[in-house]
Amino acid sequence: MEPRSNLRVLIPRQDIAAAVDTLAAAITRDYHDKNPLVLCLLKGSFIFTSDLVRRLYFPLEVDFLRLSSYGSGKESSGSVDITLHLPEGFGGRHVLIVEDIIDSGITLSFLLDYLADKEPASLRLCALLDKPARRQREVHVDYLGLTVSDEFLVGYGLDCDEKYRNLPDICILE
Ligand code: IMP
Ligand code: MG
Repeated sequence: MEPRSNLRVLIPRQDIAAAVDTLAAAITRDYHDKNPLVLCLLKGSFIFTSDLVRRLYFPLEVDFLRLSSYGSGKESSGSVDITLHLPEGFGGRHVLIVEDIIDSGITLSFLLDYLADKEPASLRLCALLDKPARRQREVHVDYLGLTVSDEFLVGYGLDCDEKYRNLPDICILE
């Protein structure tokens, strides 16, 4: 892709790949015999999830949920808009949520409470990125890739107004 003056690479693709490898190793240790349901939160996690599951060499299922708490800007709107169609047989499964980035924590704290009510056998969270400086709700991340500072990031699935998801590196949008 053409270099753009408003983008600065923060996490190059090889560092992303190393973080995904480390996460996959930890998840393999914990889930290799559990046939987990890997729940990708759309849209931001689609690339991360596809890279992650291709490093998990054991039986699992993948499903997708779409939630959004963002309008078209960079700030959380504070309310979570849900389109939830839970997969068949959700109750009783070992569920691993895969999220791109935890920011205010509003989306995830809401979702974790909502899903816990549906009685999965277990419920854990894997996030590629964490921006703890912006946290408003406490969220426990079981498998965390990288901690980042308070900057707006795009690429590797992350967008700004639906753009830049296709960048292979994670970049700061200036
Ligand atoms: P939260 O509810 O504020 O934690 O919002 C989490 C969601 O906001 C993530 O799943 C992302 O989709 C989006 N988000 C948070 N920070 C960024 C960012 O820096 N760039 C792009 N999207 C972000
Ligand atoms: Mg997201």
